[in-house]
Amino acid sequence: MSNKQLVEQKYVPHVVEVRERLKSSPALQTLLDPNVDPALVEGFLIQLNSLGVYMTEPVDGWIRRAGEATVKMGLKDVGEKLITHAKHEEGHHLMMIEDTKSLVARWNAKRGPQLDATALLNQVPTQAMVEYRKIHEDTIVGPMPAAQVAIEYEIENLSVVFAPGLMEQAKRVCGEDIMEAMSFVKEHAEIDVGHTALNEVMLGKLLTQVPEKAEVIGKTGALALDIYLRFMGDCVERAQGLLKPAAAA
Ligand SMILES: [Fe+2]
Ligand SMILES: [Fe+2]
Repeated sequence: MSNKQLVEQKYVPHVVEVRERLKSSPALQTLLDPNVDPALVEGFLIQLNSLGVYMTEPVDGWIRRAGEATVKMGLKDVGEKLITHAKHEEGHHLMMIEDTKSLVARWNAKRGPQLDATALLNQVPTQAMVEYRKIHEDTIVGPMPAAQVAIEYEIENLSVVFAPGLMEQAKRVCGEDIMEAMSFVKEHAEIDVGHTALNEVMLGKLLTQVPEKAEVIGKTGALALDIYLRFMGDCVERAQGLLKPAAAA
């Protein structure tokens, strides 16, 4: 069986239902609606980046620690690949900080109420954001740290399947120059194609080595994606909050 077939058969059934929600989520449908308020799209990008720092800053540490625990349990090859992948995720939250500042400057130049980038970067995390950190920490110390591969497979795949449509919508309703403030999304739409291919190789290897763990691996991927979709819903909700005068900082 090819790697892809193995992933399709043993893993995908666990995530297929959650993946469907990327299309059916009312919040994301509102965001991608042809008649969307441009301010909502800009507000979403501001929230995705400013709140996203909390989700992205720990990523390289999570992958490295999961990789080390995976090596320790005897899955040397997958563990070492995770440790290598970790290096490619270092500092990506810095793009989100920069994009937040650029997007807020852009917003303040032509919209109201006026926003404060520092205050946005210091917002209280949502429930989904707290859960996102927790699923990583639980996976690292749990019985199957290699399930980190499934988390990466689902989340990095969002850059492949969701980011292009988001960029198209942003350019269409906010103007082409919005791309100057979308370095994180733009870069990830490109590099995560490769990262997703690598994750699929690791996942196939894992399913060959520990086939009896397919369910826990699949369920970990499904929960991570569920949490991230709720996080994106939170970004839409908090974007709606930015449009009201009361949100003025
Ligand atoms: Fe990244
Ligand atoms: Fe990546």
